Amino acid sequence: MPDKIKIAFVGSGGMAEAHAPNYGKIKDTQIVGFCDVMRDRAEPMAQKYGGEAFTDPAEMLDAVAPDGVYILLPPFAHGAAEFACVERKIPFFVEKPIDLDLNQAKEIAQAVQDSGLLTSAGYLNRYRTSVKKAREMLQDDPAVLAIGGWIGGSPEPDPKAPITVWWVDKSKSGGQFIEQVTHTVDLVRFLMGEATEVAAVTAQGFNVGIPDYGIEDAWAVAVKFASGGVANLYACCASNASGGVKLDVYAKNCAFAFTGWEHNCKIFRTDGPDEVLGDELGYPEAIYPEDVAFVEMLRSGDQSKVQSDYADALKTLEITIAADQSVATGEKIRL
Ligand SMILES: NC(=O)c1ccc[n+]([C@@H]2O[C@H](COP(=O)([O-])OP(=O)(O)OC[C@H]3O[C@@H](n4cnc5c(N)ncnc54)[C@H](O)[C@@H]3O)[C@@H](O)[C@H]2O)c1
Repeated sequence: MPDKIKIAFVGSGGMAEAHAPNYGKIKDTQIVGFCDVMRDRAEPMAQKYGGEAFTDPAEMLDAVAPDGVYILLPPFAHGAAEFACVERKIPFFVEKPIDLDLNQAKEIAQAVQDSGLLTSAGYLNRYRTSVKKAREMLQDDPAVLAIGGWIGGSPEPDPKAPITVWWVDKSKSGGQFIEQVTHTVDLVRFLMGEATEVAAVTAQGFNVGIPDYGIEDAWAVAVKFASGGVANLYACCASNASGGVKLDVYAKNCAFAFTGWEHNCKIFRTDGPDEVLGDELGYPEAIYPEDVAFVEMLRSGDQSKVQSDYADALKTLEITIAADQSVATGEKIRL
């Protein structure tokens, strides 16, 4: 690996603006390119953070030969960038959710495995102290029940911010459970292990008059795990008086109450006093540890430096897509 790690970005929107500044802080790194289908999004990023601007991922990879690539695309836009990285054996970091097309994600996972490529997925909450502590405690006292999700207000699409436009389009984001609550689904997997069954119902018709709105207003999703534990997970984007991000996890002798985007945590136990783990990183600060880990992985060639790789993130995607299938079919989906 060269002295300076060269980084390039595919997708130059909100998440590029969240990850790129970290490369001013991680030493011996250099940004060499930004790509976006909209050139007027890639160019200002290249001017601000360095490198050249492109509109085609493969062209960028050939021109600037990065050591690692960030794939920061809306859920519907995956595929070409990942395959371009695999073909050139360039490790990549992909934001959650890793795709909207499960079959394509499986093909990418297979190609990644066949080529032995290093990857990282953007499940940043796995790097939090609170989450690591819960995972450790739950090894000997497995979780029986988890309840959690994200509740927000009615979306207000703004044409100047693409994410708010594609987010309300079911064919582009997959809906709130797939796009956003994927964070909670991944956390629950991290804490409880693999899922075996998923059943879901949704609410519609509460949000009205929102341009191009085609997503569900709320989701209620039940998940059964191989461990025997169960989870009740939810999403809502039609609650304008109250909401937030929450996850409660209950085991026989300990319990965890995660609150807020920061996932500050209160720990309860039968054999000792309650403990509060506060001051967890907010946004975008919480992204820094996963960027540091990505660079450490690139330098060392050691996949275990990151908390989530493509194959692991695929299992989270499988649960959220199964929830969607359950809604469509009215059936419980076995994984
Ligand atoms: N980890 C987190 O907490 C977090 C937070 C927000 C968003 N995200 C995820 O990050 C991803 C990107 O979100 P964002 O906020 O940056 O969205 P965004 O809409 O702000 O930016 C996406 C950019 O990708 C570009 N694009 C679309 N198709 C492309 C293609 N084929 N090739 C190149 N560029 C293309 C768009 O023009 C846009 O500029 C999404 O999957 C989202 O779910 C993660």
